[in-house]
Amino acid sequence: MVMFSTTTQMANGTNLHLENLFLSSIQPLTKSISRSKEEVNKAIESAKTAQKLWAKTPLWKRAELLHKAAAILKEHKAPIAECLVKEIAKPAKDAVTEVVRSGDLVSYCAEEGVRVLGEGKFLVSDSFPGNERTKYCLTSKIPLGVVLAIPPFNYPVNLAVSKIAPALISGNSIVLKPPTQGAVAALHMVHCFHLAGFPKGLISCVTGKGSEIGDFLTMHPDVNCISFTGGDTGIAISKKSAMIPLQMELGGKDACIVLEDADLDLVAANIVKGGFSYSGQRCTAVKVALVMKSVADTLVKKINDKVAKLTVGPPEDDCDITPVVTESSANFIEELVKDAKEKGATFCQEYKRKGNLIWPLLLDNVGANMRIAREEPFGPVLPVIRINSVEEGILHCNSSNFGLQGCVFTKDINKAMLVSDAMETGTVQINSAPARGPDHFPFQGLKDSGIGSQGITNSINMMTKVKTTIINLPTPSYTMG
Ligand code: G3H
Repeated sequence: MVMFSTTTQMANGTNLHLENLFLSSIQPLTKSISRSKEEVNKAIESAKTAQKLWAKTPLWKRAELLHKAAAILKEHKAPIAECLVKEIAKPAKDAVTEVVRSGDLVSYCAEEGVRVLGEGKFLVSDSFPGNERTKYCLTSKIPLGVVLAIPPFNYPVNLAVSKIAPALISGNSIVLKPPTQGAVAALHMVHCFHLAGFPKGLISCVTGKGSEIGDFLTMHPDVNCISFTGGDTGIAISKKSAMIPLQMELGGKDACIVLEDADLDLVAANIVKGGFSYSGQRCTAVKVALVMKSVADTLVKKINDKVAKLTVGPPEDDCDITPVVTESSANFIEELVKDAKEKGATFCQEYKRKGNLIWPLLLDNVGANMRIAREEPFGPVLPVIRINSVEEGILHCNSSNFGLQGCVFTKDINKAMLVSDAMETGTVQINSAPARGPDHFPFQGLKDSGIGSQGITNSINMMTKVKTTIINLPTPSYTMG
C-alpha cells in the first residue's frame, strides 16, 4: 500500500517531517495506511474480512486485548503527546492528559463491554395480552460490521479511541480516517493497538484530504456505521449516508448563564478555564457568557484578572494559549473580532495576533447583531452579553442552531433545574463549565450539534444491533404437572 504523505503542516505554520517524529519506541504504520480510492477500497475490504473472524473471538479475549492496548498506549504517552504538541499545538501537559485519558477510556470500555454485551434479555410470550406461554425470546447484541471513525483535529487520540474501543469490544472492525492535523499522533495510537496483538486488518487507517476521499469513504457500501466528530461536514455526511447508524458530534455555541446569586469567583474560574483552555478549540468551550446586568461589572473584572495571568506562547512551554490549528482558523477568528469592533463591542484587552497565535480576548457588551454572539470562533475569544433576565439568556441560548452543552451558575438549585429544563442543549452543567468528560458520561448534542449519544455505554449500544432468537413450543410450557 502507498504510504501516507511524509510531511504534514503544523499549527505554527511549519512543515513537520514525519521521519523526525518516529521515535524508536514506536514504529510508523506504513503498512496499514491508504490514500487513493483504490487503497480505501482495500482498507475497507480488509476490515470487512477481519471483522468476520473478530466477531467470533470470545468477548473476554477482546476485552483482554483492549486492556493490553490501553497499557501500551499509556506506556507511550510521552512520544504520542510529543506528536500532539508538534502537530496541533496542544499544551504539553494537556497532550499527556489526552493520552492517559484515552488509555483509561479503552480499559473502561473493555470492562463495560463484557457487562453490556455479556447480558441479554429474556422474555416470555404470555406477558402480552392474548398469548399463552408458548414462546421464549432471547435477545443478544451483535456487531454492525465495519465502523468508520472520523475524529477531529482537537482530540486526534482521545476522540479516535472513543470510537475505536466501543467498536472493537462489540466485535466490529474499524476504518479510521484521522484528521489531517493530528494524523501522526493518531497513527501512533493505532500502532499501540497493533502492538497489543489486534489482528491484521481489523483496524485500518485511511489518510488523505476529506475533500478528495470523504464522499467515497462515507458513502461506501461496505461501511456499516459512521462515528464522526467535527464541523459542518457532519451534516453533509448525514444527508448522504443511508440506512446506517450515525453518531455525530458537531459544533456548539455553549452558553454560560450567570444568575445574580452566583458565586462569582467560581464563575470566573470556570469561564476562563472553559473559554480559553486549548485556546478555545473545544466543541464544549464556553462560547458565550450571558451575565445578569447587576453582577456583570464585578464578574468581568474577575475574569479579566484571570485572563491577564494566562500565558501565551509555544505548546512545548506548556503555555495556556498556543497557536490555533491553521492560518484559515486564525483568519476566521480575526473576521469575528473585526465585526465585533465595527459594531461596538468593548475590548477588555487589545486584540493581538502573530501568525496563528491569537492572544486571549474578552469582548464585553456584545450585542445580538454581532457575529461573535452566534458563531463559534473556535479560538481564544469570548463574548459577554449582558442580560436583564434569565428568560432573555435562555432565549438567546435557544435561538442558536447549535445545542451541545450549556451551563448555569446559581446557588438556588430550583432555579438551576428550571434553567436546565428550558435550555435546548444535550447537557446542562450546573455550577461548572461545559465538558464532555468523564468519558463514560452520556454526551450528545441537539439540533445541528449532533445525532445520537456518546459515552462508553451508549457507544457500545449504538455500534451493535439487537438480535432475537425465539423458541416456539407446541404447547404452553406451564401446562405440565
Ligand atoms: O471538542 C470536542 C470535545 O468533545 C470536547 O471534549 O470537553 O473533553 O474538551 P472536552
